[in-house]
Amino acid sequence: MLIGKSKKIPSSEMTPENVYINRREFIGKSAAIGASTSLGWRSSDFGGLRERRFLQKDWSKVRSELDEELTPFGDVTSYNNFYEFGTGKSDPARNSHSLKPRPWTIEVGGLCDNPGTYDLADFIKPGKIEDRVYRMRCVEAWSMVIPWQGFSLKNVIDRAKPSGSARFVEFQTLNDVEQMPGQRYGVLRWPYIEGLRLDEAQHPLTMLVTGVYGTTLPNQNGAPIRLIVPWKYGFKGIKSIVSMRFLEQMPTNTWKRSASQEYGFYANVNPDVPHPRWSQARERRIGEFRRRPTLMFNGYADEVASLYSGMDLRIHY
Ligand code: MTE
Repeated sequence: MLIGKSKKIPSSEMTPENVYINRREFIGKSAAIGASTSLGWRSSDFGGLRERRFLQKDWSKVRSELDEELTPFGDVTSYNNFYEFGTGKSDPARNSHSLKPRPWTIEVGGLCDNPGTYDLADFIKPGKIEDRVYRMRCVEAWSMVIPWQGFSLKNVIDRAKPSGSARFVEFQTLNDVEQMPGQRYGVLRWPYIEGLRLDEAQHPLTMLVTGVYGTTLPNQNGAPIRLIVPWKYGFKGIKSIVSMRFLEQMPTNTWKRSASQEYGFYANVNPDVPHPRWSQARERRIGEFRRRPTLMFNGYADEVASLYSGMDLRIHY
């Protein structure tokens, strides 16, 4: 996502080194799977969910159905896009300590019969937390394979009971410059906004995520709750969600608003539609050197292609 650079966040606002999740430390510890240590996160009650211990499972043996290697935890948590903490890939891990993911409330509103403001624990209640390994493809042509914990967004949509006229869902990220220092800079219009068509949002693959690699979602990955839509470019995966609204009209998502000639609403992974400044035909899996072909709908075509039948995906990119 390249539309200019914000100023660097001053070092006085950065994480002390001992808090920063150190990749080397992780790799060293993960070699000792079965040991009782974690990365120093406290086991705590997370919104009614017991925080699951990091080394509870031998993640190195977990594969997606496509038998792909998982992207190491150190890469998943240190190579991020989260512009509220800076535009560099390492900025979110370095700067997101100021985000306070608990207590957290989420507002559900717009065109629905059952609106409400929920504490996180109540918000996630209708969903049963499960492990799902998803491919994630960024519009910048890199990709990862990540074991998330969460549940289908459909569960909270069903509880909200959208009315007949609702056709879209809009999501917003927290808007608080004290917690998100990058919001001082006008690199994007804040708060970050994303949206899905209602049928996309109700698709069973569309996931609200509360954890990764069996541990509570780190701030840099969008704590305490974020969206993952695996057949779309990563920018649809809005982080640190504070509201969702049901709408009749298509919402204007942040990246479309910032550069509509480059980023559309649908954002389906499509190797045949190049970004105006680069090809989308290939991608680099983080941790690998060679570039691999990008798959239509990021490899989820069997599950989701029918959502777009009759649409020209070159126009609706
Ligand atoms: N959500 C917010 N609020 N702010 C952001 O800058 N970046 C998006 C998405 N969600 C972003 C966001 C982009 S461009 C990507 S590729 C993914 O988050 C990256 O998710 P990850 O850092 O967990 O891999």
